[in-house]
Amino acid sequence: MSDWRPDSWQARTAAQQPTYPDPQALRRVMDEISQLPPLVTSWEVEDLRERLARAAVGDAFLLQGGDCAESFDDCRAEPITAKLKILLQMSLVLVHGTRKQVIRVGRIAGQYAKPRSADTEARGDVVLPAYRGDLVNREAFTEEDRTPDPTLMLRAYERAGLTLNFIRALTDGGFADLHHPEYWDISFAHGSRHAAEYHRIVESIRDSISFVSAVTGIDSQVLRQVDVFTSHEGLALPYEQAQTRRVPRRDGWYNLSTHMPWIGMRTAQLDGAHVEYHRGIKNPMGIKLGPAMTDAWLTALLDALDPDRVPGRITLVHRMGADKVATGLPPLVESVRRTGRTVLWVCDPMHGNTETLPNGYKTRRFDKILAEVEQSFAIHEELGSRLGGVHFEMTGENVTECLGGASNLLEGDLERAYRSRVDPRLNYEQALELAMAIARHLRSGPKPR
Ligand code: PEP
Ligand code: CO
Repeated sequence: MSDWRPDSWQARTAAQQPTYPDPQALRRVMDEISQLPPLVTSWEVEDLRERLARAAVGDAFLLQGGDCAESFDDCRAEPITAKLKILLQMSLVLVHGTRKQVIRVGRIAGQYAKPRSADTEARGDVVLPAYRGDLVNREAFTEEDRTPDPTLMLRAYERAGLTLNFIRALTDGGFADLHHPEYWDISFAHGSRHAAEYHRIVESIRDSISFVSAVTGIDSQVLRQVDVFTSHEGLALPYEQAQTRRVPRRDGWYNLSTHMPWIGMRTAQLDGAHVEYHRGIKNPMGIKLGPAMTDAWLTALLDALDPDRVPGRITLVHRMGADKVATGLPPLVESVRRTGRTVLWVCDPMHGNTETLPNGYKTRRFDKILAEVEQSFAIHEELGSRLGGVHFEMTGENVTECLGGASNLLEGDLERAYRSRVDPRLNYEQALELAMAIARHLRSGPKPR
């Protein structure tokens, strides 16, 4: 690694970066962030890597989820609590389905920057820089708001710190809701043909929790000690660089802005700046794999990012779409197998199933999301591989952004509570229902395809 430094990416082409009008101002912000305390520790990062290594060999299961893009406005108690609650509830349901430890990783406390399909946005005759997330610029369509502002990076660091502080306090102090799954809001399931089964799942989780409390004499120790890790797309490289540090008594460099960054589909160029940056940090990392990914490209990415084959280092997150996963996934699974590597395979059933309706809303259909997950389990199984996790865009709130689910949200419902600035998220009910559907699928064994 003698040729790598936290800023060596700057000599490469960096896709999806804003153009800051004042490079001095950017420099000052980066210097300031680099002096502030880290958001996570290298112990936590190594702990997560070890857990991911266990998931890669089938001894644990990864649940990764959260907003497509976090917004500064949502750095408030209610949305954060709601996100944590749905993540914890889904994880209990998945423990029930998988009978394995579930590793909880939020798309949280740093998911403030987004790749965009165009650098600019035109409205009438006015052309302005695209909105790239709250870390980069503001959403309002004025020149001032859309001009990239490096001080927003500092605001992002602070919001991430506040979010993480609150999450740590909640998870440390016990999260009472979870002791009583009978209070979970699963009223949506009544109309569903799986209602009885969902109630059985919740009952059985409640029994297990009471059993543990009774036997250990510790009131829901399980829930008092939940671990929640953070992740975000490692996209805004100046932000990532500013928090890349050495720590005492460990070799190498850590990105201490998050436990687990991932490289998005649009920034996975082999000779690009994002691959250059990520190859030098010790964190475990995700790589998104879309239909455009090829065997040769993937193999080269693995060689570049994980030359030493460190257990838990690489999580491959496929996001093919329900219609493409059957053709797109098998060649990638085969090519990784030929390398002899052990990686963690995870399904993101969101990003390949996005559609824009005639009324202008970007949405995703619950059935397609579930279909991609179920097909992914089956494909891995058939190939002698293993799906070891799922990756969702979701919120604990009652938004109306994705269609379907037991409450059967229809196109006309979307306008009621469509709040995402970027991609549509599963709401509380849809997210819990999806976890239950996955648990049911896992408990009953895969269906023949
Ligand atoms: C995302 O996860 O929000 C994202 C942009 O994903 P992808 O890179 O897979 O499109
Ligand atoms: Co998204």
